[in-house]
Amino acid sequence: MTQSVQDNSPNSYDDNEIVNPSPNVHLNDIVAARMSRRQVLRGGVGATTFALLGGVGLTACGGGGDDTPAAPSALALGFTAVDKNQNDIVTVPTGYQVSIVHALGDPQHFGDTSWAGDGSESADSYNRRIGDGHDGMHYFGLSETGKYEPTRSDRGLLCVNHEYVVAPFVLHPAFSAGYNGVGFASFAAGTVRVAAEVDKEIAAHGVSITEIKRGSTGTAMTMSRGSRYNRRITSATTMDFTGPVRGSDLVKTKFSPAGTQTRGTNNNCANGYTPWGTYLTCEENFLNVISRGGDAALRSAKEVTSMARYGLPANRRSPYQWDSVGPADEYARFSSTATAASADLDFRNTINTFGWVVEIDPFNPDSVPAKRTTMGRFNHEGAWPAPAVVGKPIVIYSGDDARNEYIYKYVSTANWDAADLNGGMAAGAKYLDNGKLYVAKFNADGTGSWVELSFGVNGLDATNTLYAFADQADVLVNARLAADSVGATKMDRPEWGAVHPTLSEVYMTLTNNNASNRVDPASVAPLTGRQAKPDAANPRWYDDGEGNRGNPNGHIIRWKETGATAFAWDIYLFGAENDAAANVNLSNLTAVNDFSSPDGACFDQRGVLWIQTDDGAYTDVTNCMLLAALPGKVGDGGPATAVGGTATIKGADATADNLRRFLVGPKDCEITGFAITPDAKTMFINVQHPGESSADQGAGLISHWPDSQTTAASTKRPRSATVCVARTNGGEIGLT
Ligand code: FEO
Ligand code: CA
Ligand code: CA
Ligand code: CA
Repeated sequence: MTQSVQDNSPNSYDDNEIVNPSPNVHLNDIVAARMSRRQVLRGGVGATTFALLGGVGLTACGGGGDDTPAAPSALALGFTAVDKNQNDIVTVPTGYQVSIVHALGDPQHFGDTSWAGDGSESADSYNRRIGDGHDGMHYFGLSETGKYEPTRSDRGLLCVNHEYVVAPFVLHPAFSAGYNGVGFASFAAGTVRVAAEVDKEIAAHGVSITEIKRGSTGTAMTMSRGSRYNRRITSATTMDFTGPVRGSDLVKTKFSPAGTQTRGTNNNCANGYTPWGTYLTCEENFLNVISRGGDAALRSAKEVTSMARYGLPANRRSPYQWDSVGPADEYARFSSTATAASADLDFRNTINTFGWVVEIDPFNPDSVPAKRTTMGRFNHEGAWPAPAVVGKPIVIYSGDDARNEYIYKYVSTANWDAADLNGGMAAGAKYLDNGKLYVAKFNADGTGSWVELSFGVNGLDATNTLYAFADQADVLVNARLAADSVGATKMDRPEWGAVHPTLSEVYMTLTNNNASNRVDPASVAPLTGRQAKPDAANPRWYDDGEGNRGNPNGHIIRWKETGATAFAWDIYLFGAENDAAANVNLSNLTAVNDFSSPDGACFDQRGVLWIQTDDGAYTDVTNCMLLAALPGKVGDGGPATAVGGTATIKGADATADNLRRFLVGPKDCEITGFAITPDAKTMFINVQHPGESSADQGAGLISHWPDSQTTAASTKRPRSATVCVARTNGGEIGLT
C-alpha cells in the first residue's frame, strides 16, 4: 500500500490505510485474564518488559536457567496459521491489520516531494528520504524530554537499516545506465557509471531514524514527519573509529591520515541495540561496493593474505562500480587500490574500513556514529545482546554471514551499571571499546567452547604461520584469519541470533549451504579452499530434487552457556518442506509451519521467537514468511541421524502449538527486521526487495507491492518498506 502523500501537511502520514481488517474481534477480557496469569507466573510485567529492552536495572533475568520465571509452555499462540501463498500482498491472520510506516523514497522532513514512483527524486534529497532495502531494525521508546524510555509504547524512534539499493529498476528514472541485466547490480567491464545515479545510491544506503507514534485510536503507528529526530546516516556520513583499531596503520586513508575516522556505513544487514539506548548497525556484504585495481606490486604479503581471505583479489570490479565514476575522492574511495607511496595518501585501506559494528545514538541527532572495532571485522550480520544484568559484563553475539564462516561472542570488560541508561556514545565507549572477542567451536557431543581472539593468546602473535599478527588491531581487522587459526567451526551461513529473554539461551539461524561448500559426505575428493563435510552442528546433506544440494533449507542452532567459555548446544529446528523425507524434515514440520531458509530471528519480551525467511528453495510454493514459535530449551529433544548419515542432536519436534506461520510476504521479497513495542501491541517487520528478480527475467515488474496491497491491478514500481502489524482489537500480538 502506497501512502498518498501528495502534500506536505503534517497529517500526511496519519492517512495510512489499514488493510486486511478482520471482523473477528477477540474479547479483551480474555486478553486481560491471560496477561494477569502470565504476570503472576513470570514475576510481573515490568520484568518481562525490561528483559526485551536489555534488562535495564534488572538482576533477576539473564543469569542462566535456574531462576526461570516460567516455563515457555505457559504461553499459547493465539492465531490461525496463515497458508503458504504466492500472492503479491502481505497476508496476516484473521484479526490482524497491516499498514506501512515508511517505504523507499518517502520524505522524512517537510520540503521534499512525495515519492513519485518514476525515479525522479534528486540524489541530494535521499539524504532526507527513507533509504532502500529495509532490513534490521529496533524500536526505542521516546520520553517527553527526548530520552530513551524503555517502557514507552505509544511514541518512539524506529531505527531501520537500508542494506542495499535494488538499483536496476526502482531508484532511477530508467534501468541504471549500463546495467547488463544480470543480478541486482551488474555492469559490463569498462562501464563508467553516471554520477547522479551513484550519488543517489550512496545516499540510499545506511540507516534511517524516524520518530513514530500511535494515533488517537488503535495501536498502529505512523511516521512523525518533520521530527527533529528524523535522520539519515548514509554511505557518506563521517564516523569515528574507536577501540583497538583506532589509529592503526590498517585503517589510515587519504580521508583520515591518522586512521581515526572514515566515511560511510554500507550494506547494513541486521542490527543490535544496547541497554543504554543506542542502536547497533552491522556491515555485511561490503564487497558489493568495493573494487580493487592491479596493485600487487605495492602490496605486502600480509596484505595479500588478508585481502584474499576477505574476497578482494587484484583487478576485482565491485557489482555497483561506484568507483568507476571518476577520480574524485568521493568515488575513488570505493576502490581499495594502492596508488601512492603510502596508505595515508590513497584509499588502499578502504576494505578495512567496512565490516564493523557501528553504534548510533538515535536520541542525539548531532552524534557522530562510531565503528566499535572490538567486535571484529567480517560480514557482520548483526550484534545480538544478551539481557543485561547489573554487575555483569555486556555480552553480544554475532555471526559472519557467508558459507562456512563463524559465530562470535563479545564480552565487555566493564560491568553493567543501570545508571548508564541514556548514557549515549559515552556509555558505548565504556562498554564497547574494551572487551574480549571469542569464536565458537561446536563439538560432536553437544558441548562447545568459546576460543579467545586476543593478541598473544591461542597462538595469535607474530609467530603464527597462517598470518603474522602484529597487535590486537591486526587480530580484529583480520578476525577471520584469527578464527581460522584457532580451529573455529565452519557453519552453514550464520544469519540472525536471538537471546531468550529469561532463559538466556541463544538461537542462531544457519540459513542454508550448498554442495560447493558443504561437501557430499560420501565424496572421497580432497577438500579444497573453505570446504567442509557435514558435522554434528551442520549435519544435513541432501538433494531436494529441484537442483539444490547441500543444506538448502537451513536450520537453527541454539546453545546455553555452561561456563565462562563453555556451552551446550542442540539444533532447535530444521527448515524443510513438509512432505520431505523424515531424515530431512527432522523437526516434523507440517503444512501450518513448514518453511525454508530461516534468516531473521528475534525474541520478543514474552519469549515468543519470531522467525523470518529469505529463501530460494521453497519459493516455487510460497513467498517468504514470518513464523511465531514457543521454543523449549536446549536438551528437550535427543540424538538423531540426519540425511547423509551424520549424527546430530535435535530439539523437540515442532507442533502446531509451538510453531505456526503468522505472515506471508509479497512476491519475490525477503521478510526481515523485527521490532515490537514494550506492550507487545505493535509489531514491525520489513519487506525487502519485493520483485527483485524482475530485471533478470526481462518480463517487466513481477511485484507492485506495496501498492498491490490495496490495488490488485497496480502497475507501480515495487519498493522495500516497513510494515506495522496490529491487532484489530488492540490486543497483544501473537498470543491468545
Ligand atoms: Fe543481509 Fe545476511 O543477509
Ligand atoms: Ca539477513
Ligand atoms: Ca539472507
Ligand atoms: Ca521447492
